[in-house]
Amino acid sequence: MEVVPLGSAAEVAALAADTIEALVRSRPAAVLGLATGSTPVATYAELVARRRAGTAPSYDEVRAFLLDEYVGLPPGHPQSYRATIARELTDDLGLPPDRVHRPDPTDVPTAGAAYEAQLAEAGGVDLQVLGIGSDGHLAFNEPGSSLSSLTRLKTLTEETRRDNARFFNSLDEVPRHVLTQGLGTILRARHLLLIATGAGKAEAVAAAVEGPLSASCPASVLQLHPHASVLLDADAASRLARADHYREVYAGKPDWQGL
Ligand code: F6R
Repeated sequence: MEVVPLGSAAEVAALAADTIEALVRSRPAAVLGLATGSTPVATYAELVARRRAGTAPSYDEVRAFLLDEYVGLPPGHPQSYRATIARELTDDLGLPPDRVHRPDPTDVPTAGAAYEAQLAEAGGVDLQVLGIGSDGHLAFNEPGSSLSSLTRLKTLTEETRRDNARFFNSLDEVPRHVLTQGLGTILRARHLLLIATGAGKAEAVAAAVEGPLSASCPASVLQLHPHASVLLDADAASRLARADHYREVYAGKPDWQGL
């Protein structure tokens, strides 16, 4: 795992955008795995700004797979993750809806297996963008999730529902259920790019990066992956015991190596 503590959230967004663009330049038919939530918004805005400025690679052949989707929202709800990613990223990158996939919340019993089959048919995810929950969840794999789980129905914790209530009119409106890629699904992606910003993530980041591998901190599953990058701003890195060492390693990297 490579941990990269940076100075600011803007630096995290710029490096994440650089990494996504480098992949798409080298592999025009790249398969991107996309997280939603607040953390990647700045990265997505950076990608969109670069496209508007005319410096972005072509996304004509790129396909995208969402990490998760709420269950039980009315069709077309603006907080569904399908609507959110279209608004924040994929519409502006020119990806049509048929190249942006999600687990289907209208057919919950078959959605998990169908999504795994779609991912396999696409050849798997090249680069998976990830956020982390304040309780250490990864996608919507809450504490206690099997480290080898596949896409399936899950129940959100009260902590996650409270965290996400800011996107809804009230806590009651926040769905209790989601379809989410499993931790085993996420581990199949070829490169994991976890981004975290803000002090509210510091404890979860420290547990994921430096704590034991444990279903009690689902994001600790990154420790099993051969190519995981963790981009942090100063606040999110503030509880790491080895932050100085991670900074030294990153500062000494040759340019050609990338993430
Ligand atoms: C969203 C997702 C979640 C979020 C996490 C952090 O697709 O999978 O795991 O990444 O809840 O959310 P924010 O970024 O809003 O703090």
